Amino acid sequence: MVFASSKKTISLQGIVKSIHSNCSLLLPRRNIHLTYSNKTSHKNFVPPLDTFGRRHIGPSKEEQEYQLSTLGYKDFESFLNDVIPGNVRAKENSNKHFPSFDIDKSHTAPNYSESEVGELTENVANKNKLVKTLIGMGYYNVKVPPAIIRNVFENPEWYTQYTPYQTEISQGRLESMMNYQTMVTDLTGLSISNASLLDEATAAGEAMVMIMAGDRKKRKTFLVDSNIYPNTLSVLRTRARGFNIDVKVADISPEVITANEKDAFGILVQYPTADGSIFDYTHLASAAHSSNMHVVAVTDLLALTLMKTPGEWGADVAVGSTQRFGLPMGFGGPHAGFFACKDEFKRKLPGRLVGLSKDRLGNPAYRLALQTREQHIRREKATSNVCTAQALLANMSAFYAIYHGPEGLKHIASRIYSLTQVLKLALESAGYKISNKNHFFDTLTINVHCANSLIERALAHGYNLHKVSDTFVSLSLDESITSEDLRQLFSIFGIPSSPETFIENLNNGKSVNSVEELSVSVFPEELRRQTPYLQHIVFNRYHSETELMRYIRYLQSKDLSLAHAMIPLGSCTMKLNAASEMNPVSNPKFANIHPYAPKDQVQGYKYLINDLELMLTNLTGFDAASFQPNSGASGEYAGLSVIRAYQKYIGEGHRNICLIPVSAHGTNPASAAMAGLKVVPVKCLSNGNLDFDDLKAKAEKYSNDLAAFMVTYPSTFGIFEHGVKETLNIIHQNGGQVYFDGANMNAMVGLCKAGDLGADVCHFNLHKTFCIPHGGGGPGVGPICVKSHLADFLPSSPVVQCGGSKSIGSVSSSPYGSASILPISWAYMRMMGLDGLRDASKAALLNANYMAARLAPYYKLVYANENNRCAHEFILDAREFKASSGIEATDIAKRLQDYSFHAPTLSWPITNTLMVEPTESESMYEMDRFCDALISIRQEIREIEEGKQPKGNNLLTNAPHPQRDLVTEEWNRPYSRERAVYPLPILLERKFWPTVARIDDAYGDKNLFCTCAPMQ
Ligand SMILES: Cc1ncc(COP(=O)(O)O)c(C=O)c1O
Repeated sequence: MVFASSKKTISLQGIVKSIHSNCSLLLPRRNIHLTYSNKTSHKNFVPPLDTFGRRHIGPSKEEQEYQLSTLGYKDFESFLNDVIPGNVRAKENSNKHFPSFDIDKSHTAPNYSESEVGELTENVANKNKLVKTLIGMGYYNVKVPPAIIRNVFENPEWYTQYTPYQTEISQGRLESMMNYQTMVTDLTGLSISNASLLDEATAAGEAMVMIMAGDRKKRKTFLVDSNIYPNTLSVLRTRARGFNIDVKVADISPEVITANEKDAFGILVQYPTADGSIFDYTHLASAAHSSNMHVVAVTDLLALTLMKTPGEWGADVAVGSTQRFGLPMGFGGPHAGFFACKDEFKRKLPGRLVGLSKDRLGNPAYRLALQTREQHIRREKATSNVCTAQALLANMSAFYAIYHGPEGLKHIASRIYSLTQVLKLALESAGYKISNKNHFFDTLTINVHCANSLIERALAHGYNLHKVSDTFVSLSLDESITSEDLRQLFSIFGIPSSPETFIENLNNGKSVNSVEELSVSVFPEELRRQTPYLQHIVFNRYHSETELMRYIRYLQSKDLSLAHAMIPLGSCTMKLNAASEMNPVSNPKFANIHPYAPKDQVQGYKYLINDLELMLTNLTGFDAASFQPNSGASGEYAGLSVIRAYQKYIGEGHRNICLIPVSAHGTNPASAAMAGLKVVPVKCLSNGNLDFDDLKAKAEKYSNDLAAFMVTYPSTFGIFEHGVKETLNIIHQNGGQVYFDGANMNAMVGLCKAGDLGADVCHFNLHKTFCIPHGGGGPGVGPICVKSHLADFLPSSPVVQCGGSKSIGSVSSSPYGSASILPISWAYMRMMGLDGLRDASKAALLNANYMAARLAPYYKLVYANENNRCAHEFILDAREFKASSGIEATDIAKRLQDYSFHAPTLSWPITNTLMVEPTESESMYEMDRFCDALISIRQEIREIEEGKQPKGNNLLTNAPHPQRDLVTEEWNRPYSRERAVYPLPILLERKFWPTVARIDDAYGDKNLFCTCAPMQ
C-alpha cells in the first residue's frame, strides 16, 4: 500500500519510518506503545485481568471438553483432523502473536486486554489531527444529534441485526427504512427510492448500468458532465469497463446531446456541480428525453430543501449520499448512498426495497419487496451485485430528518446558504472573483493569487480548504459553521471589515439576529423549490428528544437482535460485536476526519490501516490489501477487475471465462458479469462437493480463454472439501487466476491460509469474520487481499494517492472505503492475537458440530464429510416434511419466532433447507436453548405427520403468533393459545413477541407501496 505525499510517493517502509520517527506513543501501564516489542526485560507481575478472548468465545474450556466428548474426541487436535483435510491445514505458526507494523517486523505484539486496547486506540486516534475541514467534495461536518448517537449508533439493538429477511421480527427497522425511502423520494421529487446503496459514486454507477440495460436501442455511450467530483467519475469509468460502456466527459448542452443521440443512452449531471454551481437542467433534460436518453442527477439532499428537485426539472434517476444527514465523515465512510427514480424503473431498481404489504390477519406490515433476492435468482443476468448496503446509516439519516422535520432541515440549509452568500459578497467586495456560474448553495470556487499560500494561511488559522488548481481554491460551508468560523474566514482571505459590520451594511446599517434574516439570504426564485416535502406525520411529530427517544425505542422493541438471542444465519457469521471494539468508532478523532484531509493530519488512520493490512495478509498468506470495497460483493467485483487488469497487462486480456460452482452465492456470478466476464457454471455432486471432473473438463476446454475460477471455501454447503489445492492448481495450469470468496473465513482463520492453498485474490467480509456489526443490512467492509503479482492493480483514488501503480481505478467513493469502522476489526485482532483467533475458529467449528450432533436424531443433515463432520455451519433438511406433513422450511422459520428465535438462513444454498451457523461467540446455554426449540418443533411436525394436528391449520402453518392473534373472542385452532406462544417453559420468562402475523409476500409485490402511507 502506498500513501500520497505532496512531494514524492513514499512506500510503506518509508511511512513506517516516518511514523516512528515522529511518534512515541508511550502509554502509561504495561509500556504499551505503537512500536510493540517482545524484548521486555522485566517480568510483568500485574498481568491484566480484563483479557478478551474468554469474553469473545462463548463456551468455557470445560464446556469445550464436554462438547468434544459428546462428539467422541479426547482433544481438539483429533477433532480438527476429522474436520479439515490434512493438506489444507496451515503449519501452525510458531508465533503465538501477530507481528506489528514496525520497522522490525519480527517483533510481535502481545494480545491486549480490553482496557489496554481502549488506551491503544485512543493513542492511535490522537495521531489524527482534528482541523476544521471545509474541503467539501461530498463530505461535510455534521452535528449528529446526541440522541441518535446514543440511541441508534451506539445501540446494539440497532447495529447487531442482519438484513430484515425475517419480516415479522423486523418491523421496527423496516418502518425506519420506509421512513428513509420516503425522505429520499420526497426530497428528490421522484416516485420511488431503494433502502440505500453503498455510497454516492457506486450509486451513480448503478444508475448508469440500470439505464443502459433498459435502453431499447442498445446504445453504449454515457455522457457525463465535466463538472462532477473526480471520485464519482473514477468509479463510473471502472464500472463502465465491464459493460463496454464508453464514458464520454463533456460540458453537456442540448447540442452535445443531439450530436450524440445515436450512441448515448443517457447523461449524468451533478446538481449542484463540483465547483458549487446550480443550473436549472429543465432544457437539458427535455433535450435528452427528445433523444430517448435518460437523465441521472447526482445531488445533495440538504440543498434540495431549497432547490427545485431533480424530479421537477425532469431527471429520471437521482443519486447521492446522505452523509450530511447526521453521518460523521469518518475518513470517508460508511455513509448511505441513495437512489431514487421514476416509477417506470421500479422493477429494475438495484439494492433492497422496503414495501408495505399485509399480514395473515389483514394488518399492514412491512417487508423487503421485489428485488430482495435479485442476484440469487438472476445470477449472471443481474446488473447489480448489491447485497449488503448501508441500512444502519440509512436509518440514522432517516432519524436525523425525523428529528429536524421539514422546517428544521430547511432552517439548516437556509443558514448554510445565507452564510455562503455573505461570504461570497464579502469576498467579492474584497476584490476576489468567484468562479461559480449561475448560482450556488454551500460551495464557492475562488480565484486567488496563489492557492498554496492561501491554503497554508488557512491552515495556520485552523482550517482545511480545497486546492482546485494553482490559482483556485474552493470551500464548502456546513451546519457546523459558527460566527467565529466566519470571522476566521474573513481573516484568512484578508477581508477588511468584520463579519458583523459587513452583515449590518448588507442590512442597511441595522443589526440582525441571524444571517438568514438578510434579504440576500432568500434563495433565487427561478431555482427555488416550490413543492412541499416530508409532510407525513412521522417527520412532524418527534422533534423533542423525549419523543424521538420513545419513537426509536418503540421501533427497536419490534426487532429481534443479537441483544435478544442468537441469530444462527449460515454464511452470515453473526458473532459478537464487542463493546470494546465498537467504542473507538465514536471517537471524534476517528469520526470527524475528512477523507481528503492532508496526510499529516491522518497519521492515526494510516497507522491503523497499515497495521490491519499487515495482520490480515499475515493471517491469510497474501502480500497486499485494499480496504476500498465496502461490502463482500464490492470486494468480489474489485478482485475480479484486478485479475482482468493484470491479465490485460501481461497480454492476456482476451481471457473472459469465469468458472463458478452452481452452489456459489448469487453475488459471485453477478460480480463476474459486472467485471465483463462470461460465467460458466461448474456442477456439484450429490454429496455437495464440487464436481472435480466437471471443473477439470471445463478448465481444459476453456484454457485459452479462462480468466478466473471463483471458489468459496469451506463450501457454501459447510464442508471442507478435499482436493481444493489440486483444484486450484488445475486453474493455474490452464491459465486462470483463483478468486477466493472469503465469506466462510470464520472456519479458517489461524487454521488454513487461503493464499497458501493457491488463491490469487480473496475478499474478507470484515462484517462477518472480523466483528464489524451488520447494522441490519450494512455497513460492511470487504477488503481484498492479493498476491504480489496483482498488487499493482489494486483500487486507487483520483484525489488521494493510494492503491496500485497500474490501478483499475476506484471502486468506491472514498480512498479507504468505510474507514471509520476499521478500528473494530483492528481492536478485535489486537485483543485476540494469532492464538486467540485460532481458538475462535476452533470454537466455531466445534460449536457447529456440537449443534449438528444434537439435532441429527431429529433432522436430516444435508451434507457431512466422510467423518460425518461439518465445518462452521451445517444444513438441516426440511424437504421430506412437505410430503409427510405439508410443512416447509419457511414454516419452521416462522415457528422459531414463537420460540423467540431468529431462523437460520432459509432455503439457501438449497431450497427448503435451513443453514445453521452458531459462531464461536454463542454459549453452550444459548446453543442448547436453540436446539431445544428445534427439537420441540420437530415434535410438533410429528404430530401433524401422525394426524394429531391437521395439515394447513397447525402450530407451524399459523406461525408466528403475535399478541393480536390471541385476543380474538373465538379460538378455533386445534391447539391452545398457551401452546401457540409459550411452547417451552423458559418462554414464560423470556419471550420476544413478533409484532405482526405471517406476511403476505405476493400481495406486497402485486401492490407495491414503498413510501410512508399518506396522512389520511
Ligand atoms: C458466500 C457469500 N459470498 C458473498 C457474499 C456477499 O457479501 P456482502 O453481503 O457483504 O456483499 C455473501 C453474503 O452473505 C456470502 O454469504
